[in-house]
Amino acid sequence: MPRKIIIDTDPGQDDAIAILLALASPDELDVLGVTTVAGNIPLALTSRNARVVCELAGKPEVTIFAGCDKPMTRDLLTAEYIHGKTGLDGADLPEPAMPLQDKHGVDFIIDTLRAEPAGMVTLCTLGPMTNVGTAFHRAPDIVEKVAEVVIMGGAYFEVGNVTPAAEFNIYVDPEAADIVLKSGCSIVMQSLDITHKALILPSRLADFRSIGTPVGDAVAGWLDFFERYDMEKYGAEGGPLHDPTVIAYLLKPELFTGRHINVEIETQSQLTLGMTVADWWRVTDRKPNVTFMGTIDADGFYALLIERLARL
Ligand code: RIB
Ligand code: CA
Repeated sequence: MPRKIIIDTDPGQDDAIAILLALASPDELDVLGVTTVAGNIPLALTSRNARVVCELAGKPEVTIFAGCDKPMTRDLLTAEYIHGKTGLDGADLPEPAMPLQDKHGVDFIIDTLRAEPAGMVTLCTLGPMTNVGTAFHRAPDIVEKVAEVVIMGGAYFEVGNVTPAAEFNIYVDPEAADIVLKSGCSIVMQSLDITHKALILPSRLADFRSIGTPVGDAVAGWLDFFERYDMEKYGAEGGPLHDPTVIAYLLKPELFTGRHINVEIETQSQLTLGMTVADWWRVTDRKPNVTFMGTIDADGFYALLIERLARL
């Protein structure tokens, strides 16, 4: 029985690859819908890009719902400097023909969780958690219905990528992240501590190119563009690949190890706003609320990606 998921996303090249990985795995994952959020680029573009990706996957039947166009309480911060003007720079793809659904993304999350039996729907957040935080705030009754929230966000040993203390998805909407982490849901966090151990090495980039399909070509083009900023910044031989680690966890959890610990979000300090304060060494008596992943089998992760994307 495939696992029912909602993908909440701000595509973004790495989000796009995560969506492709999910759509390439229908035996394991039933994508109930995709909800878009403002993050890497504004909402109009993330909502366009989500449709571009679903059409590239040959899945125009996927239902896509535009969500929040700005964080819950703060101004939007975007990242065109990484993702380019379109958010999917690196591959030339046609404007989407498939429609957006009329329903707001937050309403889709609420309605779906209310309609499905408890414990059947997993939320995968690949961008700022504005939609999920807003849904939980507006409809607290849905929290206990959620099977699991699998988050790309945060950092501990790896520290921040948008400030010295904070990772982008959390920093853009720390209040939303705080609501989700305090919700009582079962949470898995794929932070920079994981994604920075899964670099897009030249050999891995070549593997995507060698798939030899429109999907493989688009993915190689996206990665080539997307990793430049981080390679320059970190001086590594490849950039980190973030969002597909969320879907990979659902497909092959054995690729990862982590600890069930307390993780809380800084929402007050200017200096460390958006920091995920992870009690990795359990030095406090704060209640564990997150399975915070610490290791990834990077070769296994890329092998899974190549094998699945070649199916599309
Ligand atoms: O910090 C990495 C995260 O920010 C990824 O989700 C990337 O897509 C951007 O949204
Ligand atoms: Ca993202």
